[in-house]
Amino acid sequence: MEQKDIVLDVRKLNTSFISDGATVHIVKDVSFQLERGKTLAIVGESGCGKSVTVHSIVKLLPQNARFTAEQVLYRRLDEKTGGITEFDLAKMDPKGKEMRSMRGADLGMVFQDPMSSLNPVYRVGDQVAEALMEHNRGMKKSEAREKVLQMFRNLGIPDPERRIMDYPHQFSGGMKQRVVIAIAMINNPEIIIADEPTTALDVTIQAQIMELMKELQLNMGKSIILITHNIGLVAEQAEDVCVMYMGRIVEFGSLEQIFENPLHPYTKALLRSVPVLGLADDQKLETIPGATPNPASLGVGCEFADRCPERSEACSAKNVPAYEVEPRHRVRCIKFSQFKEVD
Ligand SMILES: Nc1ncnc2c1ncn2[C@@H]1O[C@H](COP(=O)(O)OP(=O)(O)OP(=O)(O)O)[C@@H](O)[C@H]1O
Ligand SMILES: [Mg+2]
Repeated sequence: MEQKDIVLDVRKLNTSFISDGATVHIVKDVSFQLERGKTLAIVGESGCGKSVTVHSIVKLLPQNARFTAEQVLYRRLDEKTGGITEFDLAKMDPKGKEMRSMRGADLGMVFQDPMSSLNPVYRVGDQVAEALMEHNRGMKKSEAREKVLQMFRNLGIPDPERRIMDYPHQFSGGMKQRVVIAIAMINNPEIIIADEPTTALDVTIQAQIMELMKELQLNMGKSIILITHNIGLVAEQAEDVCVMYMGRIVEFGSLEQIFENPLHPYTKALLRSVPVLGLADDQKLETIPGATPNPASLGVGCEFADRCPERSEACSAKNVPAYEVEPRHRVRCIKFSQFKEVD
């Protein structure tokens, strides 16, 4: 794969929070590559650091957060010339002009809890138009309106001429979520970061919205980071999968590699805990035994060791690096130490 085909190259991202004078390390040495035009899913139990990882990338972290990274390299493609410009987001001032223009224009964001991303006192059409005009100073109001209407049409919002005049409370959950996606997509960003974009919605609407995002991605060559608890959604949407546990990527691979040949005991447990089509009524789902440990009180070694059915003494002896078991397929588990270390 050529470098220009990697739109986002994250290396050794670390984020901690300081609370009550103590520092808790939440995201640990996270490295991954997002391929241009592809969807990368990030999966893992609640609290493992998925949201903090993407908030770190776009540099929207609270005051008590500490962030470092070797690089968060974004490669912008000029569609006309085919040229690439590189930006290291890790080096940018979170509040600076450059980072602010990057958000929205290059990085579209659909965050968890979309209902709070809309301002209740402004008309939905104005909110989308404002996102557009913020990055296109001097654009005529009439032109902005036309673009907003077009986006509403693309997103399947019926009767857009009338609906742009509505306030958020006049929209159903699914329609509000479309408005949030419209805001994320109106500036035609290269990367869309979708953090549980459909969790709050019922299953049919979820499927519709994901289908829309997939369509936009295919038609416009966008790259997506999709965070979700829904493994079915991963199977439908993603080309690559990152499995996170306690702030680390424990396994990375293509959808086929992860689903057909899961290597990490945590990945295997995660996949076993998912309903399988055709599961008999009396066949109980397996849940992963044990609870996630407290991030503030972790020792050395593999974070999953306590819950792992395949653990050995070696697991808690030292921090475990990632090993590349087959091309692109990496796993952070001592059982694979005969393979090449990759970080
Ligand atoms: N502002 C903060 N201050 C202190 N700790 C925080 C802060 N924000 C997040 N954390 C901690 O970071 C950890 C990871 O949180 P994060 O929201 O990234 O999890 P997640 O994987 O997105 O979970 P979910 O699937 O529930 O959304 C949690 O233990 C959380 O308590
Ligand atoms: Mg989250």
